[in-house]
Amino acid sequence: MKERLITLIESALDTLIADGTLPADAKRPVQIDRTKDKSHGDFATNIALMLAKPAGMKPRDLAEKVIAALPQDSAIAKTEIAGPGFINFFQASDWLNSLLDQALADKHLSVARPEQPQTVVVDYSSPNLAKEMHVGHLRSSIIGDAVVRTLEFLGHNVVRQNHVGDWGTQFGMLLAYLDEQKHEESAAELSSELSDLEGFYRAAKQRFDESEEFATRARGLVVKLQAHDPDCLKLWGEFNSISLSHCQAVYDRLGVSLTADDVRGESAYNDDLSQVVADLDAKGLLSEDQGAQCVFMDEYKNKEGDPLPVIVQKADGGYLYATTDLAALRYRANTLGADRMLYFVDQRQALHFQQMFSLSKLAGFVPESTELSHMGFGTMNGPDGRPFKTRDGGTVKLIDLLNEAEERAYALVKEKNPQLDEEELRTIARAVGIGAVKYADLSKNRSSDYIFNFDQMLSFEGNTAPYLLYAYTRVASIFRKAELDMTQVSGEFLLQEDAEQALAARLVQFGEVLQSVAEKGLPNLLCLYLYELAGLFSSFYEHCPILNSEDEALKQSRLKLAALTARTLKQGMELLGLTPLERM
Ligand code: ARG
Repeated sequence: MKERLITLIESALDTLIADGTLPADAKRPVQIDRTKDKSHGDFATNIALMLAKPAGMKPRDLAEKVIAALPQDSAIAKTEIAGPGFINFFQASDWLNSLLDQALADKHLSVARPEQPQTVVVDYSSPNLAKEMHVGHLRSSIIGDAVVRTLEFLGHNVVRQNHVGDWGTQFGMLLAYLDEQKHEESAAELSSELSDLEGFYRAAKQRFDESEEFATRARGLVVKLQAHDPDCLKLWGEFNSISLSHCQAVYDRLGVSLTADDVRGESAYNDDLSQVVADLDAKGLLSEDQGAQCVFMDEYKNKEGDPLPVIVQKADGGYLYATTDLAALRYRANTLGADRMLYFVDQRQALHFQQMFSLSKLAGFVPESTELSHMGFGTMNGPDGRPFKTRDGGTVKLIDLLNEAEERAYALVKEKNPQLDEEELRTIARAVGIGAVKYADLSKNRSSDYIFNFDQMLSFEGNTAPYLLYAYTRVASIFRKAELDMTQVSGEFLLQEDAEQALAARLVQFGEVLQSVAEKGLPNLLCLYLYELAGLFSSFYEHCPILNSEDEALKQSRLKLAALTARTLKQGMELLGLTPLERM
């Protein structure tokens, strides 16, 4: 609706520019706000206040001219000038009713499909395989997956890329350690040791820090690995398959839609790396700095004003994280045909991605028109406001965290509903516990840090998963109580009460909200929308009797509103990767 009003106003401004009322440069971005008080209409704009000065008119007089120049539109019942010169718009009720009916009749809730679906490559999760997944990978996996689901629902062609760290110096250290252990341990002992990657990593790191000789060997192994030494490759393969299976277990548990097919790790680009460097050289972009091959771009300087290099090849011949990302950018543009590439990676890598995006365009690896976005996110902190750690200061394993969430949810649900049988309790606890962890993350603006707090995320009050899951079961229960099928509602919409109108107006915004989530990579917008929708439903339910409605036509209309609310809540939760429950 906002878009529609903007178009109408812009057209009115064009008319006023053409007839000389407004100077040719008077166009401003048109701002439309939703009005709080419905007696002032549904939307308002301050455009006449903004343009009064350049027009040399009083705002109210200009507002009158704007209204007179507005094209006819069936969506608008009435316009009005308010206060110093605001223009208020009243949405036409039959228009709103027909939007609601369209949504109800459509499996897709009449969310518009793009005229030109885009190919969107989404890089998310992307843990390092040398270590076990930890809470730091939670945000990327969860936020990335919600955006991926939304993009797909909107009709785009999404290519998931799990750019796992399966290469690099860490592997030298691990392989050196593995090799050393092999002489001391049986194969069985080794494989069980490897199943605790975290411990294995720690032990290897200790050796690396303590022994210069070991460290040199480790660095040598990196070079050997890059030269495709078969023994090295075999050891390396063993690591990766164990580590990937751990990741997959976490995705399955979390309900993250990544599969083995989406894994395209750093190693997949090995054969392209020398070409990347050669191509940068051919473009005249390379300079040598202390033996390393670097690119200096004018726009990247440190605080002292010294140029910041992108190092693409070290003096010992080894390639880097950046070289691989350049190769990946080219692959995603050329082979995957990306129109957009989204990277859900920790905010601390912001500079890296800026440099990669600039350089890939400068080098012609990615067309100028391709949108490249780093969807950065802040840190997940513990209750003390510091990075999340176990009591003894170690990193928290994701799987332990999820187990605890489920156990806590189980206790809560059991306390509320002691009569439920064990199986149902477990199902609900899973949806609530895992949902709470995911939603706590999704509902915050991703760019800020946030504090992980079990009590808060498991609360049935506020913008939480339990609140939303519960709100949905309440709507569903209306139909269950009345033994009615949600898909079998009929009759006309009769929206009389304010509470009905407010709910209806919010329902038809679902598509707009999804559009912003997809554009900005911000699932918290969808969380907020669903939270508000649930709140609007509550007050509707409080003020407007449904099943006890005195009038059959009114009852049908309210049932339709309830059905559309239920379906919108459910669809929204699914896009966030939550599991809606019919009862809890
Ligand atoms: N593996 C990296 C890390 O854990 C994240 C990779 C993100 N994706 C990328 N194309 N660089 O920090």
